[in-house]
Amino acid sequence: MHSKSTAGIPWFGYARLKWATYCNGMSDGVFDAEVASGCDRDVEYMYAPEVLRPTVDFLEACAAGYRALEFAVGTGRVARALSERGVNVVGIELSASTVDQLRAKPGADQVPVTVGDMTTTRVEGEFGLVYLVFNTIGNLLTQDQQVECFRNAAAHLAEGGLFVIELEVPQLRKLPVGERFVAFKVDGGYAGIDEYDVVYQQLTSHHYNVEADGSGRLFATPQRYVWPSELDLMARLAGMRLRERWADFQRNPFTAESTSHVSVWEKNESSAWATA
Ligand SMILES: C[S@@+](CC[C@H](N)C(=O)[O-])C[C@H]1O[C@@H](n2cnc3c(N)ncnc32)[C@H](O)[C@@H]1O
Repeated sequence: MHSKSTAGIPWFGYARLKWATYCNGMSDGVFDAEVASGCDRDVEYMYAPEVLRPTVDFLEACAAGYRALEFAVGTGRVARALSERGVNVVGIELSASTVDQLRAKPGADQVPVTVGDMTTTRVEGEFGLVYLVFNTIGNLLTQDQQVECFRNAAAHLAEGGLFVIELEVPQLRKLPVGERFVAFKVDGGYAGIDEYDVVYQQLTSHHYNVEADGSGRLFATPQRYVWPSELDLMARLAGMRLRERWADFQRNPFTAESTSHVSVWEKNESSAWATA
């Protein structure tokens, strides 16, 4: 894990601080075992039945009996639940430490995982569904990497197969003119602040936590924010077309007020504008 001086963070002046950057597509030297184990704890709410069940319902329907591939499978939150429904699912994950954690979990033997980068790593066979959830396309920090991710998804899909992405809508309307920071949550021992770079389309979410023992933990997740329309263009470049867009996995309508979207593109070779 990287270490960083805590000077200049008066808000946490009293606390013992740790600094980590994770879930950011960097090498395993950054996303080490300690950070990987923190991931599950920090995202417990994503395991709640009201979150996970509609996700798995949606993806099971998209798989329609065919094989599924999860990009950035993490510790298998979704893949293991999908596999319990009888879907044949495999994963690609960049962090070997995270894959070690997945392999220690119940049901992990049903979810083979390849350690690698979702922009370049190929696994054998054809799939009816490739999916990338929980805002993780944003972990690819350049437009080129995101385009490659779409191309890699298309390369794994059979004709007519589906690529599903779950992603936040950039909240630039909350950013006052001339400002870079937006506090998105301040609650007890937690403060979350988004930092925008509107020139390079970068978003860093800073998470400040006070632990039960009074120590402090600060981590930052750098992302490239991307608009739904830009994703549609990436899909076209990869030979896919938008089939559905919802606000969430419950299929609520996507509107101007939606803060997230679940988008489904269908592979259709004849729609490709360009090939690599
Ligand atoms: C927010 S977690 C999501 C994990 C899982 N998909 C879920 O929904 O619970 C993001 C994961 O993406 C992985 N990741 C980031 N960049 C990646 C890349 N380029 N290729 C493969 N995995 C990547 C991280 O290591 C991390 O496990």
